[in-house]
Amino acid sequence: MVPTKPPLTSFSKVMRMSLKGRDFIDLADFERQELRTILDTAYDLKRKQKRGEPHELLKGKSLAMIFMKSSTRTRVSFEVGMTQLGGHALYLEQTGMQLARGETIADTAKVLCRYCDVIMARVFAHSDLTDLAKYSSVPVVNGLSDTSHPCQIMADMMTIEEHKGELKGLKIAYVGDSNNVSNSIMDGCTIMGMDVTIGSPKGYIPTAEVLKRTSELSQRYGTTIEVKNNPLKAVEGADVIYTDTFFSMGQERTKEKEAALMPFQVNKTLVDAAKRDVIVMHCLPAHRDEEIVSEIMDGPHSVVYDQAENRLHAQKAILALIV
Ligand code: CP
Ligand code: NVA
Repeated sequence: MVPTKPPLTSFSKVMRMSLKGRDFIDLADFERQELRTILDTAYDLKRKQKRGEPHELLKGKSLAMIFMKSSTRTRVSFEVGMTQLGGHALYLEQTGMQLARGETIADTAKVLCRYCDVIMARVFAHSDLTDLAKYSSVPVVNGLSDTSHPCQIMADMMTIEEHKGELKGLKIAYVGDSNNVSNSIMDGCTIMGMDVTIGSPKGYIPTAEVLKRTSELSQRYGTTIEVKNNPLKAVEGADVIYTDTFFSMGQERTKEKEAALMPFQVNKTLVDAAKRDVIVMHCLPAHRDEEIVSEIMDGPHSVVYDQAENRLHAQKAILALIV
């Protein structure tokens, strides 16, 4: 597939839409124009990095990265991103911090913001992020919580736009377990004008709270949100198929859940039921031959490694705009 390129906007132009000082915790906290500013900044920074043009917008700035869960992409893309922006990132594993010995989130936030210019955290309880933001005087970025993964979806929307040339009017079908990633897809893609279908078995659909919030967003932005229990029906007419692990970090693996989700596996039959030029996405890490088969993940529809790369560019844009 040859990626189409969306129009490029200069950093100085998009900077007029100021996001300075804002936390980046949930996509639903942002307007369409604000997410557009982040995407346009990301394209600009990506182009600069590819051309080897300096873009040290955060020279001398420090990012504290708190990890309460494992990570490959988030850790590396934030750390490399900060270096490319002329700043510095500190990897703080919870087990090595006083947090592990009972220091509160509030005290941790009050101290870290005396040293650092921005804090990123990967947490279990979403309230840990909102507490960090409450007690920190510097912006806080969500590097994944049990209920959302907004940085991932900024990179994903960038990837969709690069491959399809637009976002508005496209249909994305997320199939599998309703989780942090699907919640942020529902928020972000709806705000950007896409129609969203969730294909999940009964018992694994989005929560009532998420459905209420995203239905309100879809009314506001003139899009549709649907939940279907039949995977083939869910992907009908889809421009994008997206899936994620059946068992998110912190969840217990059960035979019952696996059996319920296996019919939602992304395989040839499912891809053939969508549009012919459908792109297939996964936030990674993938469990090959569980939620997605290798034939599809390594096949011509897959854009999973473009997504992973765009984490770098999207997060650099977020950091450059909020710090
Ligand atoms: N997609 C994602 O967040 O990957 P990591 O868990 O490796 O950071
Ligand atoms: N839903 C997955 C995403 C990992 C990037 C999890 O939370 O484990």
